[in-house]
Amino acid sequence: MLIRKPADLHYSDVTPREVYLNRRRFIGAGAATLGALALPSSALATAKINGLVQTGPYHNLGNEKPSPKATVTSYNNYYEFGTGKEDPSQNAPKWKVPAEWPIRIEGEVMQPKTLSLDQVMKLAPAEERIYRLRCVERWSVVVPWIGFSLSTLLKQVQPTGKAKYVAFETYFDPKAMLSPREAGIPFPYVEGLRLDEAMHPLTLLSFGMYGETLPNQDGAPVRIVVPWKYGYKSIKSITRIRFVEKQPPTDWGIYSDREYGFYSNVNPEVDHPRWSQKEEQRLGSGFLGQGTRMATVKFNGYGAQVASLYSGMDLAKFH
Ligand code: MTE
Repeated sequence: MLIRKPADLHYSDVTPREVYLNRRRFIGAGAATLGALALPSSALATAKINGLVQTGPYHNLGNEKPSPKATVTSYNNYYEFGTGKEDPSQNAPKWKVPAEWPIRIEGEVMQPKTLSLDQVMKLAPAEERIYRLRCVERWSVVVPWIGFSLSTLLKQVQPTGKAKYVAFETYFDPKAMLSPREAGIPFPYVEGLRLDEAMHPLTLLSFGMYGETLPNQDGAPVRIVVPWKYGYKSIKSITRIRFVEKQPPTDWGIYSDREYGFYSNVNPEVDHPRWSQKEEQRLGSGFLGQGTRMATVKFNGYGAQVASLYSGMDLAKFH
């Protein structure tokens, strides 16, 4: 993560930690950012320090700058709200995120639990982490996410010795979202990680970006971000987490097991049948924000942290 000092912060009127801890207040008010503006200035100063400034070995992106927020919120994959890149920003904002958002954690655990989103967000301070996200379709963005390691949530239940994988499920609202037939992929959207991947400190449970709650098209109210894997592993709007013994089905794997592997680590050495993975287009950067072509880096640049998870594995076979 870029380590931002208080003086560098340009979210001068937004207090992520306060925003998240008081989320209900703002939902009632309609717009999350407007709610934040109403906070007293003393709360702002404290929250900036407690909520955003983080240090640590996992988050350093050097000089990379976040992509423009307008890009990250208007060019999305969220098939529940349309299959075109602009569809989610058009359609998802009309969806009213349920005020009650239970997250069920079950399966191979000693004590299954259902936590409200508010309970989840109180488990740890909100961190800002600037991560790259690279899509298999070759576009990439850099996003200042807000959240904390998914492991903090997963540690709330005691996995049994049988738990080898973690399966995730997106909320599905047939009234507000496309049907699976219309979208061409199964819903509820499902994804999965191996247990050690899910527990890795880089794997983020995110409920905000750019100092605010997540826009619907980016996965409100809570999503996973796995920065060393192709974007489709970063499942949005999750409501169910299951510890399982066998490798769980994934949406794009069900769609085609020849194109999309379970692991889906960003890897320029293994092409997707329809898209080379050697290069990517960094959206919203370069001359007039037209995007910059750049070489794709193995594990999306997070190899020092995550390569050991795959030692001894043939990453062409387990792609
Ligand atoms: N999650 C759900 N529920 N539905 C989706 O269609 N698309 C995935 C992933 N998570 C998707 C999803 C894909 S293909 C990508 S590239 C990322 O979300 C995109 O995240 P972004 O829109 O925040 O950039």
